[in-house]
Amino acid sequence: MRNIGILTGGGDCPGLNAVIRATYKTLKDSCDCRIIGIRDGYDGLIFDNCEEITPEMARGILAKGGTILGTSNKGNPLQYPVEQADGTIQFVDYSDRIMETYNKYELEGIIIIGGEGSMYIADTLSRKGIKYVGVPKTIDNDIYGTDLTFGFNTAVQLATDAIDRIHTTAESHHRVMIVETMGRDSGFIALYSGIAGGGDVILIPEIPYSMDAIVKKLKERYDIGKKFSIMVVSEGAKPIGGEVFGKENKKNIYDRIKLGGIGMKLADEIEKLTGFETRATVLGYLQRGGTPTSYDRILATRYGCAAARAFLEGKFGNMVALDGNDIVLRNVSENAGRKRLIELDSPLIKDAKSIGICLGI
Ligand code: F6P
Repeated sequence: MRNIGILTGGGDCPGLNAVIRATYKTLKDSCDCRIIGIRDGYDGLIFDNCEEITPEMARGILAKGGTILGTSNKGNPLQYPVEQADGTIQFVDYSDRIMETYNKYELEGIIIIGGEGSMYIADTLSRKGIKYVGVPKTIDNDIYGTDLTFGFNTAVQLATDAIDRIHTTAESHHRVMIVETMGRDSGFIALYSGIAGGGDVILIPEIPYSMDAIVKKLKERYDIGKKFSIMVVSEGAKPIGGEVFGKENKKNIYDRIKLGGIGMKLADEIEKLTGFETRATVLGYLQRGGTPTSYDRILATRYGCAAARAFLEGKFGNMVALDGNDIVLRNVSENAGRKRLIELDSPLIKDAKSIGICLGI
């Protein structure tokens, strides 16, 4: 009997369960094996929180959001934050504990479904002896080495629906309406939903914005009788020469600013500079929740099947990826720590400009 682990790491994302289901079915169909579900991402290995996935657990989950295994985007096991008696935080390397759990369950390897952070950790742990095959997930679509991550399509659809609804108020009240999407480093969600939803201004982290350019665009529209405008803004958008906008604007213990609120900030600035009534809506976690679109269910299923096959063929250290319409394997080490950003000379950026969208410059 072979023991094969599976975990979901990082922020949740529509389609995780569809990957678990496809992996489970493919592995069970191909060999005599136990699939060990590791709970809450790498935490399950640190704290020995694992259990065999039963057929009942894997049933009826295709369309279910979230992950039946639980996840965590806080516990890098190599630098795990542990609160000390005096209230200070110390970062501990838990890789030995991970190896203990890995060996305890006699795992042959792990299917790791996660984002760029989870792949980086997998790559590091592989040097300690862990075998894995990765599956790229994130609504942000910012994993280097794949054309698409599952979850992205669902997030774009949700954001597009929201923009369509917000159009109603924008038009009726002659307002500037700002929709803030997720997208810490990459503006894929904002760019795609902004184009699909007919946005007039789209701000993405890859192109720092100028307030003058935004105001010029809004006034131009007003002057030709278009008394409303729609702006779609990534949470990670920042002004030229400025910083991203977060709740406290200081880095937390994970060395990250908790982003959110740039939409409200821009709304205030735009009202002051133009006199146009401006409102902002933050889509937040709505983008990560709920049932995956049919596109994401299929992509997640293809990824899950391909990951299971790669595992059985012993092709460890790779992640499954989409290349055009083909599922391929990409070596994780080669791209570890790299993020996929929107290329400024990409056709979609060119098209956005040619239909008059202001990208903040
Ligand atoms: O899944 C990626 C992401 O959506 C980023 O765009 C965002 O900054 C982050 O997750 C927020 O995650 P959390 O609040 O769960 O830490």
